[in-house]
Amino acid sequence: MLSTMWRAPIGMAVLAVSTVALPIPDVEIATGVHMPMLAFGSYRGSLTTCSVQDGIKQWLQLGGRHLDTAHDYGTEPDVGAAIKASGVKREEIFLTTKIPGPIGRQAVKDMVMNQTLPKLGVDYVDLLLIHFPCVDQTDFPNKCGEKGKQARIDTWQGLSDLRSMGRIRAIGVSNYNAEQVAEVVAEFKEAPAVNQVQWHLADHNETLRASMRKVGTTLEAWASLAGPTAFGAPAISLGDARLKALAQRYNMTTAQVELRWETQKGVVPVTATCSKEHALGDLTSFNFSLSQEDVAYLDALLPADTHAMFV
Ligand SMILES: NC(=O)c1ccc[n+]([C@@H]2O[C@H](COP(=O)([O-])OP(=O)(O)OC[C@H]3O[C@@H](n4cnc5c(N)ncnc54)[C@H](OP(=O)(O)O)[C@@H]3O)[C@@H](O)[C@H]2O)c1
Ligand SMILES: *[C@@H]1O[C@H](CO)[C@@H](O)[C@H](O)[C@H]1NC(C)=O
Ligand SMILES: *[C@@H]1O[C@H](CO)[C@@H](O)[C@H](O)[C@H]1NC(C)=O
Ligand SMILES: *[C@@H]1O[C@H](CO)[C@@H](O)[C@H](O)[C@H]1NC(C)=O
Ligand SMILES: *[C@@H]1O[C@H](CO)[C@@H](O)[C@H](O)[C@H]1NC(C)=O
Repeated sequence: MLSTMWRAPIGMAVLAVSTVALPIPDVEIATGVHMPMLAFGSYRGSLTTCSVQDGIKQWLQLGGRHLDTAHDYGTEPDVGAAIKASGVKREEIFLTTKIPGPIGRQAVKDMVMNQTLPKLGVDYVDLLLIHFPCVDQTDFPNKCGEKGKQARIDTWQGLSDLRSMGRIRAIGVSNYNAEQVAEVVAEFKEAPAVNQVQWHLADHNETLRASMRKVGTTLEAWASLAGPTAFGAPAISLGDARLKALAQRYNMTTAQVELRWETQKGVVPVTATCSKEHALGDLTSFNFSLSQEDVAYLDALLPADTHAMFV
């Protein structure tokens, strides 16, 4: 559910770049767990002209408060170092990481206690995602269907144990289809706090969004600007003429329009940038609203042959 009030991130209440206060809204993903609606990714390939550490540090210093990393990216130590270098207090940051997949109940506890937390240099994470639903990487990206269900359930149980131990605040998944999310709901009578999937103008599965909304799972968008990690060559880029024309009407950039299209639909973008100007653009993308007509227009740009490859 979207919070009714626009809450400023704790600590640095507003961005200091405009005469207008620019709070970043959040969404309550689990009872009492508020997640800022714009995340900074830390896959190395997302940051083309700077180090992961410098990109994150800049984001935090400009007022961004939500970071996304993963065991598989190998960047948890960079994220930990950037947090320390930023001067921003750990508790003001919403920190997400991912365990590689359905690795099992004890294995996930060992990994989080012995690797994840020490690498990040923190004693808890805000959100921990199961990165992929399939045990076997030959099933990559998601061809496993029901296969591996027991491992997914066992791994969720391990995460639930870690939550009880105070080591993670909320549990979610990534690249799950609706059926795999339903397994969790049936087994644990709770929905994943988040499902992070590929989502941008050229690839957005509205069936999945509707079913996540129904169970109360917040959708997060990776490759939210159809950037470096997007599959294939996305048919709608930031240079798309239709997107440019629309952005011009709002006096905003095409990136700001794409991010706002996502956040107005309740989807939380994960993006990344080395550019200060782009980072400020991303962080100020909440200061305007697209009309309903323009949201529908952008929805309808979806190419007919799009396949949501991860769901
Ligand atoms: N769960 C999963 O399986 C999964 C898979 C893939 C990715 N992810 C996560 O998603 C993150 C983001 O993925 P992505 O890199 O593909 O994201 P993206 O948002 O689609 O693309 C990022 C690119 O957009 C550019 N950009 C950012 N803000 C901009 C702006 N205001 N104007 C113009 N260009 C802008 C940046 O280039 P400049 O540096 O030139 O600004 C950057 O290279 C990853 O780092 C990772 O954390 C998760
Ligand atoms: C990893 O952590 C677990 C606690 O979850 C502990 O019992 C185990 O000894 C640790 N293993 C290693 C190799 O450090
Ligand atoms: C969209 O998601 C639904 C629910 O998970 C799935 O059944 C469907 O196959 C997906 N569509 C595409 C094009 O991948
Ligand atoms: C349009 O945006 C630019 C750059 O952010 C700003 O300097 C300018 O004042 C804006 N123009 C209008 C008409 O709002
Ligand atoms: C929103 O922020 C942009 C900078 O990203 C600026 O150009 C624009 O004038 C701002 N609009 C409002 C309504 O504050």
